[in-house]
Amino acid sequence: MLKNNGKKAALSAACAAGLCLLLLLALALQHPRAQVPEQVSQDGARPGSERKGFSAYFGTLARARREVEKPAGSPRAPPASGDPPPAEDISVDDVFIAVKTTKKFHQSRLKLLLDTWISRNVQQTYVFTDGEDEELKKKIGSHAVNTNCSAAHSRQALSCKMAVEYDKFIESGKKWFCHVDDDNYVNARALVKHLSQYQHTQDMYIGKPSLDRPIEATERLGDNKMKPVNFWFATGGAGFCVSRGLALKMSPWASGGHFMNTAEKIRLPDDCTIGYIIESVLGVHLTRSNLFHSHLENLQQVSRSDIPKQITLSYGMFENKSNIISLKGAFSVEEDPSRFKSVHCLLYPDTPWCPPQVAF
Ligand SMILES: *[C@@H]1O[C@H](CO)[C@@H](O)[C@H](O)[C@H]1NC(C)=O
Ligand SMILES: *[C@@H]1O[C@H](CO)[C@@H](O)[C@H](O)[C@H]1NC(C)=O
Repeated sequence: MLKNNGKKAALSAACAAGLCLLLLLALALQHPRAQVPEQVSQDGARPGSERKGFSAYFGTLARARREVEKPAGSPRAPPASGDPPPAEDISVDDVFIAVKTTKKFHQSRLKLLLDTWISRNVQQTYVFTDGEDEELKKKIGSHAVNTNCSAAHSRQALSCKMAVEYDKFIESGKKWFCHVDDDNYVNARALVKHLSQYQHTQDMYIGKPSLDRPIEATERLGDNKMKPVNFWFATGGAGFCVSRGLALKMSPWASGGHFMNTAEKIRLPDDCTIGYIIESVLGVHLTRSNLFHSHLENLQQVSRSDIPKQITLSYGMFENKSNIISLKGAFSVEEDPSRFKSVHCLLYPDTPWCPPQVAF
């Protein structure tokens, strides 16, 4: 079904909703320790169809990526190339970076981030997790936020964390909200440079979609009435940013307990719900950027010379095949399977644990 692009019109709203679920399924399969989201079985996906679904979905994503790389089309294309003068002089202190994780990944995934990019941005970064961790508290203090959300990889648990991220951002008073996952490397310099092209008082939603068309969903209106809705959303696994001006307008649908209610209304995961509030409810378009990268795309396509310009990077594993950026760097793939340590030494060669400057 997913392969048949020609029958777009025949895609029912329910099928499109399945794309979002498959996205979660893909996440679960690429990170073998992650749980398959509960709604996949609830919605009746057959066991054994998962792998086929996964490769079909990966094919869809590959097409999506080619689409995304076309210069024009909706959503809005970024400003023309070259270095436009900043619209607003901001520093990294104006950015609130939310990292979503779960307790069982504190040692593996989160530690790598703390040792690399977070170490350079402790004051800007907040870690949203689901369990107490004294070690983590010792390292980053109140920036470790126990959301008290469930540790399940379910739609509800993910939305619960996003709701806490949103509230903490509003409380922080910072100009930009950026969300990433615990398998993302954030290049803060590139991030600040990119955001400074816009004003934080503008309505800005910046990120990269994984699909080649808007997602089709069904809004539950009460009285058992349903309404089909179409909107673009930025994949949470690649990271995305929202300006404060826009975030404040989202408040009636996102603050306090409202985000969870909104997510239930369309029954889609957290990143889709953000897209729904911004595009469908508020009528603001996603501004796409190819500088954000998730493990759902082929990361080999990021070239070494372009790495310093990228805002986020990622890594993934699927059936012993790793999806990582191709970088001959300070560390071998055995020593540094995600390549994040090598990326960090490329961007910050003065880091004490980086080997002395050598030409790689
Ligand atoms: C989680 O629960 C603890 C203990 O009840 C509380 O102190 C903390 O504020 C809660 N976290 C959030 C984000 O509500
Ligand atoms: C992955 O690698 C491990 C160890 O090398 C091996 O035991 C396992 O069968 C492999 N799995 C697949 C799906 O190839």
